[in-house]
Amino acid sequence: MSSQRKAGAVTLTTLQKLAEQGEKFACLTAYDACLAALASRAGVELLLVGDSLGMVLQGHDSTLPVTMADMIYHMHCVRRGNEGALLMGDMPFMSYASESQTLENAAALMRAGAQLIKLEGGAWIANSTRLLAERGIPVCAHMGLTPQSVNRIGGFHVQGRDTSQAQQIIEEAQVLERSGASLLLLECVPAELAARITELLGIPVIGIGAGPDTNGQIMVLHDALGISPITPKFVKNFLPESTDGIPGALAAYVDAVKQGRFPGPEHCFH
Ligand code: KIV
Repeated sequence: MSSQRKAGAVTLTTLQKLAEQGEKFACLTAYDACLAALASRAGVELLLVGDSLGMVLQGHDSTLPVTMADMIYHMHCVRRGNEGALLMGDMPFMSYASESQTLENAAALMRAGAQLIKLEGGAWIANSTRLLAERGIPVCAHMGLTPQSVNRIGGFHVQGRDTSQAQQIIEEAQVLERSGASLLLLECVPAELAARITELLGIPVIGIGAGPDTNGQIMVLHDALGISPITPKFVKNFLPESTDGIPGALAAYVDAVKQGRFPGPEHCFH
């Protein structure tokens, strides 16, 4: 397990270079200092303070109740523990509904320690993406299954299974890249669609439930340790194969992503 990385060592340029060289990178969520330290020491390139904390830590059945105050609190915690991974913060539900709100809330997350922020949505977040990118705040666009829209989508379902929806996701991903997005995260889409988008875009693409062909993979840390109440098809518990407890499991996750052993065929949608 690598524990030598200096604070701030991973940047967007690192991810871009890895993607260009065809090397996979590993990402995990983190919500507290202790697990952020273990994950970053395990060699994870990117830590996401995700609004999944609403479900994982707070016990809600969706991410909708999560507030900016929650995000800022957990960002401070993770920042203190992080040992050099790139730190991404989620903008929670309705925190980027207007231009002024978007700028104010993104700035607050950056001041708390985020180095880039994640917005859920398709073409409709193009304006916010441009606004932030022009002001020096890098944006990761989150497409496919966007949990903040669970009520509109009608559940946590795979997205982009039919041709017209897949085509729409491709086109909107291209719009977001042109609007200045630095990263794209695809959640729960068919592996073939994620592979096509990764091929088409110049920015690194991170997948969760999106097959093996994206440039990076992300998982909810509690899923990687098998301690989440629900276990979707696309997650894997790395703890049983560890001979070194949680640090070993996180190192096994990083290794499996980098060697292309995770996700396997059993974790993919088609
Ligand atoms: O909030 C989160 O943790 C996420 C991941 C599931 C990618 O968006």
